[in-house]
Amino acid sequence: MSNNRIDDRYATSEKYATLRGIHNDAQRHLSEVDWNYLWCGTGDEVTLRDNTAAFDRRRFATSLFSGISNPDTRTSVLGFDLSFPAFVAPFGGGEAVFHPEGHLAIARAAEAVGIQQMVPVAAAHSLEEIAAVSSVASTFQMTFVGDEGAVVEMMERAKAAGYKYICVSYSPIRQWRERMMEDRFTVRGETGPSNFGPGKSDPAGLTELLDFTQPRWNWQQAASAIAKAPLPCIVKGIGSVRDAKAALDAGAAALYVSNYGARTIDRVPAALDVLPAVRDAVGADVPIIFDSGIRRGSDIATAIALGANAVALGRLIALGLAADGEYGVRRTLELLKREFWTTLGHLGCSSVKELTRDSIL
Ligand SMILES: Cc1cc2nc3c(=O)[nH]c(=O)nc-3n(C[C@H](O)[C@H](O)[C@H](O)COP(=O)(O)O)c2cc1C
Repeated sequence: MSNNRIDDRYATSEKYATLRGIHNDAQRHLSEVDWNYLWCGTGDEVTLRDNTAAFDRRRFATSLFSGISNPDTRTSVLGFDLSFPAFVAPFGGGEAVFHPEGHLAIARAAEAVGIQQMVPVAAAHSLEEIAAVSSVASTFQMTFVGDEGAVVEMMERAKAAGYKYICVSYSPIRQWRERMMEDRFTVRGETGPSNFGPGKSDPAGLTELLDFTQPRWNWQQAASAIAKAPLPCIVKGIGSVRDAKAALDAGAAALYVSNYGARTIDRVPAALDVLPAVRDAVGADVPIIFDSGIRRGSDIATAIALGANAVALGRLIALGLAADGEYGVRRTLELLKREFWTTLGHLGCSSVKELTRDSIL
């Protein structure tokens, strides 16, 4: 036995020992403007702070002598087998500033670790390019805005490329992001959305996507598009029981509780604080994805215990990407999975299913 037995448990030959190392490297690599783009909230950024404070407030109920030494982190959500309950959140609008490989690198890393990827319409690579590099680009996020025919056409295009779900996001409206206003931020041409243009969907679609003056859709319009959708729809941005019920009435196959990482409107509740009420209102059988505020593996356990079937990872993946491309994302996912595993063990859960409200004090 080596004489540094205790250190053996912490020593690693990996470049990053913790998520903090990834965070620090990402910050070193990005310009201040891009760092602000990644981290900005809106208004006074109250909700941005609340999203993580809501996790910091929760306390776990541990279990002594539970007999659990190797918990199973695997789960099945929306028909996907996940190595731990996580998806990559759809983030775009210039993600290639974090790394030129953008969602291509993310796809490879997600596949290597065994989770699924949500791909945004605003990605720097086209939905077909991203679908081609892995088997895990399963959900295509798009905005319900503009002409219904064009929206349905885009969904058909996603289906043809192999996507299995559409993640529906809100109709865009101007966001009051003061860090970006002070930076006079613009999406650079070379990293801008690439799903539009000659031979792709109508170039006017890009104008619509970026045009915040477009009329916002109502629930009837959303229900009509969901009814015509060639794929089941996950409705993202659920922040209340009222919207959860409206989304199900409109035909949603799954709910995605999220405040977009506090990037749309300030002074709304932390996403974690609305999750239990949404779960109670819709019952046990409706799949719920959760994001906004996940910063470590134990946060995943908290979100599952409070009602989510799986979480989605946004800024953490962007940090991994900015730190070291595909490797940075893969290491991020491995560290999250490992800490989630550790948390399950301490809570006396042999599987993801055993995480319940009783796991939180
Ligand atoms: C840089 C950036 C770009 C984003 N772009 C999109 C997008 O194009 N579509 C979308 O639905 N959500 C987008 N989001 C929101 C994420 O999908 C996710 O909801 C959010 O990152 C969760 O918050 P968290 O990262 O603080 O946990 C973006 C988030 C970030 C950080």
